Amino acid sequence: MKATAIANANIALIKYWGKRDEKLILPNNGSVSLTLDKLNTITTVEFDKKYDKDILILDDQELKEGEELEKAIKHLDLIREISGIKELAKVVSKNNFPTAAGLASSASGFTALSLAGTKAAGKDLDQKELSILARRSGSGSAARSCVGGFVEWLKGGKEDGTDSYAVQIAPPNHWPELRMLTTIVSTVKKKVSSTAGMDLTVKTSPMYKAWLAAAAEDLEKMRKGVLNKDFKSVGKTAESNCLNMHATMITTHPSLIYWMPTTLEIIHSVLSWRDQGLECYFTIDAGPQVKIICLEKDVPELEKKLKNIKGVKKIIICKPGGGPRLTDNHLF
Ligand code: DP6
Repeated sequence: MKATAIANANIALIKYWGKRDEKLILPNNGSVSLTLDKLNTITTVEFDKKYDKDILILDDQELKEGEELEKAIKHLDLIREISGIKELAKVVSKNNFPTAAGLASSASGFTALSLAGTKAAGKDLDQKELSILARRSGSGSAARSCVGGFVEWLKGGKEDGTDSYAVQIAPPNHWPELRMLTTIVSTVKKKVSSTAGMDLTVKTSPMYKAWLAAAAEDLEKMRKGVLNKDFKSVGKTAESNCLNMHATMITTHPSLIYWMPTTLEIIHSVLSWRDQGLECYFTIDAGPQVKIICLEKDVPELEKKLKNIKGVKKIIICKPGGGPRLTDNHLF
């Protein structure tokens, strides 16, 4: 009753920010993302009678308490429920990038946990079932990491959430020249999680209604832009959608300002590089890291320029990546 899965992180081009159902993790708006080839989580799950509690070891540290542990146990309970098993589990998980710094670690983490966990429990889920499960306890955006390439998480309308899952808009090889440069400007764990942040935004930001209206339009533009490989439209739409989301965050009470000085420096740099003819766009999640959307031909130039910005600690160059997969390389 042991299995291991690897799942890639995804970065939203059209963001998910706000829930209509907090228990089932159902979004207020549909979102679009790119699954990335270089940022991943590997997770081994073993259910066994020998365990007298669920054990979670994340990046070599056992979690003894806190939100992450609670979410993981809730997820294991769901897996036990759908598989009809009672055994407790040991879970060992590793990210190849900083956890909880706004790099979508929870998305790849909960996708890997869902795939490894269900397999270890003897269940084979299809992509839709996996996506519905992955979003249920940990991270809504995990629904999107269950699919490779260019992905839409359908908002859905049903109360039970059975029509809110991720589908592929296009596979990774549809647009192999597209790149996402992930800059790491801070590895400090953020103070307010996405879950708490979006809840506060929905309740208090006067901008939230406007966000929802704009996000619905952005989603249509993005889907078309991706299918037509229209780089300008994809970049512009992603950038403005990100800024709209951050406008709702900044106007939340108390204010959610995830940006650091280097975040802002990269924003200004991208805008001025673009004025000079180097076409690139930025997007930022609930954290300080900036992701730059560009084409393969411009990567060397952009990398050189980014390395000249003092606060940039690391640059990870990502291409469109595949969906989750099982492996025999167990972590214990
Ligand atoms: C800003 O999926 O981490 O990255 O569902 O509450 O766990 P919960 O939130 P999560 O939020 C992601 C928010 C975002 C935008 C996005 O990825 O769409």
